[in-house]
Amino acid sequence: MEKILKDSVRAGVIGHPIAHSKSPIIHGYWLQKYGIAGEYLRYDIAPQDLKSGVARLVELGLRGFNVTLPHKESILELCASQSELAQKIGAANTITIDDSGRLHADSTDGFGFLQNMAAHVPNLVWHNKTIMILGAGGAARAIVGALMTCGAAQIILVNRTFDKAAALGAEFNRKFAQGSEMIPAEIIPVKIIPAPWTAILEFLPRCDVVINTTSLGMRGQAALEINLDPLPAHAMVSDIVYAPLETELLKQARRRHVTAVTGIGMLLHQARPGFARWFGIEPAVTPELEALVLS
Ligand code: ATR
Repeated sequence: MEKILKDSVRAGVIGHPIAHSKSPIIHGYWLQKYGIAGEYLRYDIAPQDLKSGVARLVELGLRGFNVTLPHKESILELCASQSELAQKIGAANTITIDDSGRLHADSTDGFGFLQNMAAHVPNLVWHNKTIMILGAGGAARAIVGALMTCGAAQIILVNRTFDKAAALGAEFNRKFAQGSEMIPAEIIPVKIIPAPWTAILEFLPRCDVVINTTSLGMRGQAALEINLDPLPAHAMVSDIVYAPLETELLKQARRRHVTAVTGIGMLLHQARPGFARWFGIEPAVTPELEALVLS
């Protein structure tokens, strides 16, 4: 199989399907902007071919790759090492391949979420906040995982299927216990309180932040029906859905003069650590890049 020249760095994204992935647009923009001789391609790998497909990428000389559905969990079995966050979340989206062809897994979705919030909200402070998370799926795991170490007071984890919220809450409360490597002794870990969907109205008056991690409100999906009226005026609302960019949830927040944070930035910021590791430059998220990805 063809081995690439040493001076042209190669990376990519794996998934199934993969045609919809915006990652090549993001990394392609940065490669061009920083004048790097490299490429970033999509690789469609079916679940049953994951091991051989990844072996082929190693053979091709890739420095690493991003991982999207349905491989975010199963990729961990092929990795020689995992960041503590990836291990705790049980999923990875960013893989680095070392000179010996060994894979190292990391999860940067939560980083992307935090960076996007910080970019939109000047002087953002998580300390002592009460955060409502809607959803308990893969996206919620990454975001809650990142928030466990931010010093917030509590996370109200609301899910249609209450048992899933209860299970995730119990799992993370145990995994992120005080004194573990990710929680310095002086930080009190965030406490997760699972709640059923029907309890949203009851909890909203004491929430400082509301984050939608479900696909509700996405173009072509069911609407996210929630009444933000009880939310305090100082609150922030964030949506991981970015198609449409202004979701009904965010429109409702803006009508109430509550800070609203769009979801596209999470996608852009989660890509930064991978690009920096593979191509050696810390890339910037710019309005131009955002417009390009949304177009
Ligand atoms: P992802 O990896 O994108 O988070 P997922 O793991 O399938 O996707 O999780 C989807 C989330 O959206 C879940 O929390 C799901 O709730 P359930 O656990 O009850 O399935 C939530 N979700 C999907 N459709 C929903 C709907 N119509 N109403 C409320 N929640 C919904």
